[in-house]
Order: sequence, then C-alpha cells, then structure tokens
Amino acid sequence: VDYLLEYLRFPSISTQSEHLKDMVACANWLKDLFETLGMKAELHETPGNPVVVAKNAHKPGLPTLLIYGHYDVQPPDPLEEWTSKPFEPTIRDGRIYARGATDNKGQTLAHILGAGELLKDGDLPVNLTFLLEGEEEIGSSNLEDFLQKHRESLACDIIVISDTMMAADYWPTIAYGLRGIASLEVIVRGPERDLHSGIFGGAVANPITAVSRLIASLHDEKGHVRIEGFYDKVHPLQDWEREATSKLPIKENDFLALAGSPILWGEEGYNTFERVGARPTAEVNGIGGGYQGEGTKTVLPKEAFAKFTFRLVPDQTPEEIQALAEAHFKKYCPPGVTIEVRHGHGGLPYFVDPTSKYSIAAKKALKDTFGKEPALMREGGSIPILQQFKTILGADTLLVAFASPDCQIHSPNENMPIRNFETGIQVHKALLKELAACR
Ligand code: BES
Ligand code: ZN
Repeated sequence: VDYLLEYLRFPSISTQSEHLKDMVACANWLKDLFETLGMKAELHETPGNPVVVAKNAHKPGLPTLLIYGHYDVQPPDPLEEWTSKPFEPTIRDGRIYARGATDNKGQTLAHILGAGELLKDGDLPVNLTFLLEGEEEIGSSNLEDFLQKHRESLACDIIVISDTMMAADYWPTIAYGLRGIASLEVIVRGPERDLHSGIFGGAVANPITAVSRLIASLHDEKGHVRIEGFYDKVHPLQDWEREATSKLPIKENDFLALAGSPILWGEEGYNTFERVGARPTAEVNGIGGGYQGEGTKTVLPKEAFAKFTFRLVPDQTPEEIQALAEAHFKKYCPPGVTIEVRHGHGGLPYFVDPTSKYSIAAKKALKDTFGKEPALMREGGSIPILQQFKTILGADTLLVAFASPDCQIHSPNENMPIRNFETGIQVHKALLKELAACR
C-alpha cells in the first residue's frame, strides 16, 4: 500500500503538456521500483512520454508472459468534487482515493508487487516482461512504432492486462472483448467576429445552432446512429452471447445505480450490457461556443465546436468511421457557416477467444483465488494498443480485472479498495502458476 501511495503522488496527466516533467519522474520511479524488486529495467525515450520495460532473468524453455499497463492518468477535474485531493492519496473506509488508484496504477502495481514477491521467494515460474507506457489515455500513438522496433525483445506467448472492470463488486471477471475508439472534432465558423445579436440576429447563421443541428443529426429517436454505413461491418450478437449477458452477476438496476442517472436509455433492441459491450456508439464529449460567463450577453458567436468519440466493435476501424462521420457532418451542415472536421486518435476494437487454453488457465487462477466462478463479459472501454499486440507481437491478451464497478475511473473520487489491490497480488501469483503449466 505504501508503494501505491507513492506511485499515486505523481500527477502524470498525459493530455496536459505542463505535466511532462511528472511523466518522466513517474517513469523513473517505476524503473527504480523494478530494480528494487530484482528486475532489470530500462526507460526508453519516444517522441512522446517514456516507455518502461522490465524483465526478470529470462530462461530458455519457459513460457514468456508480457504484462502491459499505463502510468498516465486522466485529468482530475472537476477538482471541487473530490473529497480529498486527487494527487494526495487518502485512505477512507478501506479504499485508497486518488486519480489513477484504479486506472491504471493500482491494477498494474498489483502485478508488479506479485512478481516481486515471487522473485524474492525464488519462485518465478515464467519469463516475465513488463511494458508500461505513458500515453494510453491519449491514444497510445507512439507505442505501435515502439512495438515494431522492439518486437524481438518484447516477444511473448501471452499478454496479461488489468485495465478493465469487474462485472460486480469483488467478482472475478475476464473481459473477452473491448470496444475500439475513433475521436473527431467539429469546428463551425460563421461571422469573422462575435456580433451584436440584436443588430445581426436573423440576418446571419448562428454557429452554435449549426453545431447543435449536427449533434442532433447523429441519432434517431430509437438511439440508432444515423451515419450512413455506420453499421455495415457490425456483426449481429450471437445467441450464446445474448444468453451470457442475461446471466451476468450485475443487473440493469445495479448498473443504473452506478450511473447515477434518472433512467437507463440506449439503442432499441438491446439490453444495457449488450449496448455497452457489443454495440457501437456515437457520443458527444464536449461542446463550446458563445458566452459562458455569469448573467447574459447578447452575442451571436463567431464559432462553435463539438468533440466526439465513437466506440467501435469488430470489424469497424477508426479511419473508416472518421471518414463516414466527416461525410455525414459535411452533408448535414446547415447553410451560412463553414465547417472544419479534425480527426483525433483512434484504436481498434478487440475480441479474444474466451475458450483458448490461456483463457481457461486464467479462469482457473481466478476461481482458485476468489473461490468463485469468474464472469465473462465484453466491456465498453478501449485500450487502443490491444489489436497491435496481436498483429505485431502475435500474442493474444487476457484482460483480468481487479477493479470493482464503483471505483469511479475517470470521475472524481477515483478509488481502489485495498482488498482488491491485495487480492490482485494473489491473482498475479495464481495466474503465473497456471500459465506456466499451460503448454
Ligand atoms: N481502463 C480504461 C479502459 C477500460 C475502461 C476498459 C472500462 C474497460 C472498461 C483505459 O484507461 C481508458 O480509459 N481508455 C480510454 C482510451 C482512449 C482515451 C483512447 C477510453 O476508453 O476512453
Ligand atoms: Zn482510463
């Protein structure tokens, strides 16, 4: 727990360039930790934030396991909604509160410390490689090149990641699918400067109205995405999967409570877990333009913007969805304004066979540790580099969660129950034992 508290004190916010120094300091802290625990560690420069690679002494003949995680975190705002400060980790009611406590510092540190304990006992049954990056929360755009360059040194039989969520509180869970992501920003411009809305209102188009119309054009009233071609590559849900989602240890009402929303609402024809795990979506993440201050200001703004992300399922690709969305926005942009569409980061969706020998080994490790059959589910979040692990390193990934559904990742008061963290260390040990026996 002391190690985790130290790790959480770095404000390693990858999306804000002012934190560059903190990124490097955090990566160096990891390198030192690996060395303290008896592993060989290296810090690699990239065009972005450094990558940390650490290994035990690899022996020929043993299976090689790569564990991936990220030391970067999301911005902590809104700050006023935190009970304790986001980078001053605080323990309350058996939970550690801090940005990154779960996503992803707590979850990866459980693996690191598990490996450290096994090393100390001279008991490490596999070749272990840790790969920790600092750009996951901004799309991992420098990691693909890094994998290409270091593919030999990173060669492995199987990859394990703990960056997903448990299906229910303290319920062992393996995710066998994650959604991909495509991000995009629309900027609509009208008059060359902000205008008096009495003098000019009615005579020129309003960019905020135009952006609002574009946002409204994205869905029909049944929650389907209206972009032409959006669903062309989407596979229908299979019967066994629909049956499996109905048996998950979490019910719609539990999910509603977690969301803290008035009701659950989404695409017609699917239940909540199907909507989140197996259906693609279009979300607006931010909107701006015009006067945001106190009181009123009669202004006709010169421009407005909206930021979007699309969650993707197999076989959608970010490039294709960005192109379809751009065509859609250009087609539906009302007259009187100009539109600029900027493409942002992207990541492919992922799907792994939940019946492979490695998945079976992971299920056994979880069952032995928790004394409970693990849940199998497709989850809605994205880990952008996942598919590149498959194409570049040729290895599948097991997604084993230590985070309970109420850990509030990306939200204020993110936290990690100490029990989950400590069990994570035990899961790591059990996993290594099972994977070592898995030939
Ligand atoms: N840990 C999440 C991914 C995740 C969340 C998987 C919930 C399954 C369930 C990861 O750190 C994350 O937030 N990824 C971003 C990627 C994006 C910024 C490119 C995401 O999903 O928004
Ligand atoms: Zn995240």
